[in-house]
Amino acid sequence: MAEIIVPAHVAIVMDGNGRWAKKRLLPRAAGHRAGMKRMIALSGHAFSCGVKCLTLFALSTENLSRPKEELDALYGLFREFFPAQAEELYANGIALTVIGERELLPADIAALIGEAEEKTATGDRGRLVLAIGYGARQEILSAANRAAKGGKELTEEEFSSLLYTKDLPPLDLLIRTGGEQRLSNFLLYQAAYAELYFSEKMFPEFTDRDFDEALKEFSRRDRRFGRV
Ligand code: IPE
Ligand code: MG
Repeated sequence: MAEIIVPAHVAIVMDGNGRWAKKRLLPRAAGHRAGMKRMIALSGHAFSCGVKCLTLFALSTENLSRPKEELDALYGLFREFFPAQAEELYANGIALTVIGERELLPADIAALIGEAEEKTATGDRGRLVLAIGYGARQEILSAANRAAKGGKELTEEEFSSLLYTKDLPPLDLLIRTGGEQRLSNFLLYQAAYAELYFSEKMFPEFTDRDFDEALKEFSRRDRRFGRV
C-alpha cells in the first residue's frame, strides 16, 4: 500500500447541514446539531491521524445574514460547545483558537470563546481553529489597511503576520463537503498552494473513513509549489 503522508494543516468547509436535515424532513437546526456532533468526533479522529492543525469553517461573515431563527440555533450550539469542549480539548492537549470578527458575535459567546481559548492555551498535541464570523476578504483587507498605516512596503512574511493565521502552519489540504466546489470566502490567501478536495457527502454524513480517503488522495498528489 502506498505511504500515507499526513498533512500538518487541514481545513474543512463544513457544508451541507441544512440539506442533510431537509432530506430527513427535519428543521435546519437539527442539521446543525448533527453537524456539531460530527465535527467533534471528526476533530478527534484528525488529531489521532497526526494532523497538527485543523481549521474548521463554522460561520462566515455572510452566514451572519441568515434568518434570526437559524442564527439563534447556531448561537445556542456555540453556547453548549465552548464550555463543554474546552474541558475535553484541554484533557486531550488540544489548544483551541477562534478566528473571525469576534465583535460581530453576541457578547456572551465572545466571552465563552475567550475562556475556552485561555483554558486550552497550553495544549501542545494539536490546534483546533474554528472560523466563526470569519471572512477571508475582510481578513486580507484589514491586514492591508494596517500595512498601509505603517507607511512602508511589507515582505510576504510581514504581511502574513497580519493575518489571523499568523501562528499556524501553512495550509496543506482544504476539504469541502456538501457537493459545492468553491472556497466561499474561506482562507483565500492561505489556500494559495493547498490541495483542494471536494466531497459530495453532506457534512453530518462525512465519516472518519471519508476523511481517511481525503488523506489518501492528498498523499497521491504531486505537490510542486510551482516548481518542476
Ligand atoms: C453549513 O451548512 C453550516 C453553516 C454554514 C453554519 P449549511 O447550513 O450551509 O447547509 P446547506 O448548504 O444549506 O445544506
Ligand atoms: Mg451551505
